[in-house]
Amino acid sequence: MIEIAQLEKDYLVQGRQVSALRNINLHIAQGEVFGIIGRSGAGKSTLLRALNLLERPTRGKVVFEGEDITQFDASQLQSLRQRIGMVFQHFNLLSAKTVAQNIEFPLKLTGKYTTEERTKRVAELIDLVGLQEHANKYPAQLSGGQKQRVGIARALANYPHLLLCDEATSALDPETTQQILRLLLDINQKLGLTIVLITHEMQVIRSICDRVAVIDSGEIVETGNVVEVFLHPRHTVTQSLVAENQALDLSLLQELAQRGNVAEHSYLLRLTYVGNATHEPILSRITAQTSAEITILQGVIARIKNTPYGQLIVEVLGSEIEIDKVLKLLGQANIRVDVLNHLVQSSINSTTDQTQEN
Ligand SMILES: Nc1ncnc2c1ncn2[C@@H]1O[C@H](COP(=O)(O)OP(=O)(O)OP(=O)(O)O)[C@@H](O)[C@H]1O
Ligand SMILES: [Mg+2]
Repeated sequence: MIEIAQLEKDYLVQGRQVSALRNINLHIAQGEVFGIIGRSGAGKSTLLRALNLLERPTRGKVVFEGEDITQFDASQLQSLRQRIGMVFQHFNLLSAKTVAQNIEFPLKLTGKYTTEERTKRVAELIDLVGLQEHANKYPAQLSGGQKQRVGIARALANYPHLLLCDEATSALDPETTQQILRLLLDINQKLGLTIVLITHEMQVIRSICDRVAVIDSGEIVETGNVVEVFLHPRHTVTQSLVAENQALDLSLLQELAQRGNVAEHSYLLRLTYVGNATHEPILSRITAQTSAEITILQGVIARIKNTPYGQLIVEVLGSEIEIDKVLKLLGQANIRVDVLNHLVQSSINSTTDQTQEN
């Protein structure tokens, strides 16, 4: 559906050239929800806006449905933008128009539809986003979540093939965020609509994306299926974005550090299991086969889109031989094991540093 090849964007800031995107290569398939995640200033909005040529790339190609859109003239661009809907962080609604009028606006702009056709389409869209009770209200009378529903309905008005979302949920509370994400996923599944979204929150990626690209300082540093990237992040930027979302309880590490007993024969492990393994009693089976003591310190079972996964932080105490046995059995059970002893160690160091500073 979209092929981005060697895309670059330079900005001229006070006579100096600033490189905002460098050598971006991406393929986005028809019907997928593709997420782009990165820190503030990484280049997310610039990249997203290059997909509908709101931002003209300095070099490289953007091929959309088989056509290189960087070569389009003004009238081609105008019709392109009807095939690509866009949803904004701050909704960008017309405050003097009602919900229905906001949604109708892009239909009017095309000049293609009669009044009756527009009224019918607006009613369909209002149903789709669940705003039946609010059609005649003004934006100021709506909650943030309701405003974003209007933004989504408006973006879908002209039957786009692609929906671009620029931080569509960043202005919303966590619960409303989940509702809007569910709506987007529902639209993706019902209409088969391809969605590209940008965000700085791993939670958003985890909830609805199939694939993800991580952008840092204008470059894509990692791409892959969300399950793979989320559970086995390779790049340090990805690792830190994932870590924020996993909320490994730091006080837990500090407690262990203070107890001072992550000794030679104690291992602090993070165990990750995906899919069916999540529901199997693997730990109790392992405990039965060794004399090592396994204590669960923290655990979560959750989902990445449709894939269940579990993550446990456990402490394993025992002789070298027994611990080896445990590690081997975990490996045989297809559980990914990360040794976290170094985290406790650094927690000890930072506690000591603080004590020395005081
Ligand atoms: N119109 C512009 N003129 C000059 N520099 C720009 C312009 N737009 C963006 N930049 C620069 O390009 C880089 C990428 O900006 P961009 O807005 O794409 O980041 P972002 O990842 O969307 O950040 P945020 O999460 O804060 O929205 C930044 O260094 C920014 O200062
Ligand atoms: Mg941005």
